[in-house]
Amino acid sequence: MRETLDKTRATATGLAAATEVLEKNQYDPSRLIPILEQIQEKLNYLSKETITFVADALRLPPARVYGVATFYARFALNPKGKHIIRLCDGTACHVKKSRDILEKLYEKLGLSDEKRTTDDLLFTIELVSCLGACGLAPVMVVDGEVHGQSTPQFAEEVVDKIIAEEAKGGRE
Ligand code: FES
Repeated sequence: MRETLDKTRATATGLAAATEVLEKNQYDPSRLIPILEQIQEKLNYLSKETITFVADALRLPPARVYGVATFYARFALNPKGKHIIRLCDGTACHVKKSRDILEKLYEKLGLSDEKRTTDDLLFTIELVSCLGACGLAPVMVVDGEVHGQSTPQFAEEVVDKIIAEEAKGGRE
């Protein structure tokens, strides 16, 4: 029962945020991509409900909106963690053993290639191709901050630090 209530509340909040973005964009279907981007910025991902809602509001077939959301890698269809760890697996980083860092993060956070977000929604790991900083390989980006010459040990320390800060009451 409690779970249903929470879900209803979350959906209502999500739809209110989507409505605000739609209004700001004057319900213009030609602005579908920026609309989806702005909604994702607010909600962190695009749920099935949000996609259907946007399609209805713009009078577009849901399959079209869904098609756009799945075509562009920048759209997330599942919730992401509060902290995003992007690990580069481009050639230069791969050669410098970025995979060892990834394995350490997977082990530490109980994640895998199939499951990249922790159940508590604290962390998401994203594997990306070249970040354009090959001279710093292997590179990881934690909440937008670039860390070059990373190691599995450093990755573990970063995660521990975030967990400790979250335990103290959160990190912005
Ligand atoms: S390959 Fe990793 S930054 Fe270029």
